[in-house]
Amino acid sequence: SSRTLIIAANWKMNKGPQETSDFLNAFIPKLDGFTGSADIVIAPPFISIPTAVGTLGGHSSVAVSAQNVSDKDNGAFTGEVSTDMLKELHVEYVILGHSERRSIYDETDAIINAKVKKTIAAGLKPIFCIGETLEEREGGKLESVLRTQITEGLKDVSDADLANVVIAYEPVWAIGTGVTATAEQAQDTHKFVRSVIADLYNTTAAEAIRIQYGGSVKPANAAELLGQPDIDGALVGGAALDPDSFFGILENSA
Ligand code: G3H
Repeated sequence: SSRTLIIAANWKMNKGPQETSDFLNAFIPKLDGFTGSADIVIAPPFISIPTAVGTLGGHSSVAVSAQNVSDKDNGAFTGEVSTDMLKELHVEYVILGHSERRSIYDETDAIINAKVKKTIAAGLKPIFCIGETLEEREGGKLESVLRTQITEGLKDVSDADLANVVIAYEPVWAIGTGVTATAEQAQDTHKFVRSVIADLYNTTAAEAIRIQYGGSVKPANAAELLGQPDIDGALVGGAALDPDSFFGILENSA
């Protein structure tokens, strides 16, 4: 497709500043040998973002993402981090709606929507995650669950603003389990997600939006998944903690 692949490392609650600089000092030199054209994104924990930005220095080929952000501007919100703070560090993306935020921290579609809108208003780009549980898939609810997550999560996001949104489809049953969706299952679901965007927006927007797959992506399955026509990248957890394996995914995407 004409869409540029976007391969992102979601480190979750792993890697403080020291491990962040260790990873990047091993990873950055490998990029000299990377012949692909994918957008590369690293999402460290908040506290490691300054180190990531500093270690990357001029390496504009790697963008930095946060894993969450507040929907408030600033003020008495103990423990929260604002979009302005992320912008000060030149962060470009924010992962929102991850299934761990939805299930462990009770983030509703309404909360996620508020964060998506705040992120866009700040000039940052949401990596907006959606995905069904195994129970929902087996119960025949895959399409209705995803349609609701997309409709509610992107509520009041304009056509123009959608251009700055990346969608990440992550079947909950494939996250951290070693069970990957088959390339066919993933492709079918991505195609469905794109059709929902066509319904809510238009076919031009649907053709343009990038949809990442997430859930047990590793070097060995990256090529098949990323070779599917509607899969435009990967959101990688476990296999992105090691510089060799994250680079292996990049190499196999090219
Ligand atoms: O955001 C990343 C996903 O939750 C995937 O995690 O690659 O460890 O399965 P995983």
